Amino acid sequence: MLETVAIPSTRAAQPDAGNLRGQSASLGLSIRTFFEQPMMVGSAFPASRWLVRHMLARLNWQRMKLFVEFGPGTGVFTRAALDRLPADATLLAFDTSPAFIDHLRDSIQDSRLQAVCAPAANVATLLRDRGLPLADCILSGLPFSTLDPMDAERTMAASRAILEPEGIFCAYQMRRTIEPLLKKHIGGVRSAYEWRNIPPCHLYWADATNPQAN
Ligand SMILES: C[S@@+](CC[C@H](N)C(=O)[O-])C[C@H]1O[C@@H](n2cnc3c(N)ncnc32)[C@H](O)[C@@H]1O
Repeated sequence: MLETVAIPSTRAAQPDAGNLRGQSASLGLSIRTFFEQPMMVGSAFPASRWLVRHMLARLNWQRMKLFVEFGPGTGVFTRAALDRLPADATLLAFDTSPAFIDHLRDSIQDSRLQAVCAPAANVATLLRDRGLPLADCILSGLPFSTLDPMDAERTMAASRAILEPEGIFCAYQMRRTIEPLLKKHIGGVRSAYEWRNIPPCHLYWADATNPQAN
């Protein structure tokens, strides 16, 4: 599921008035929720368009049936992934903040999206209960540096269990806490850094079929 060719977003780049209103509502929600629960949210600002493009450009979208997102927040990555996913795919998004999940359900009208208010560690149970296939890709925005270490281990073990043998786990993080977990649970890891985000972020793509990558 790794692709080296950049795939441009199909979403129009020009902002219109509705789009700008939506963006400022998302920013307000993101900042409010961060100040209410800073450890859970990790960052006050939604992901930048540079971070989103950099992270998603390496994925092979044509063959994806199930895309799982951990910590969608206000849904910047969710919208970009829906722009790229095939018409018959499913995007299953997990967030522990009811406010973010309500926002996703209200602001994204797309039958491929299933947004659930639950911890990412519950992913295997949720997939089984909903009769969903193994995931082709898991994208994580979880703040691993502030997650309880047991929860982080459970989340990664559950992720391994629901990932297709050729599936990919990708993550964006301010710190490098997730790196050893990716190597332990998933396999070979490629990394990059994106300065054009507040705050700048490490990017990871972990792939069980490529144990030598680093
Ligand atoms: C850094 S923010 C992601 C922001 C998002 N990328 C955006 O652009 O708006 C981390 C997100 O992870 C969620 N989160 C934290 N712990 C979680 C957990 N155990 N399971 C699921 N979501 C979690 C937070 O509520 C928050 O939405």
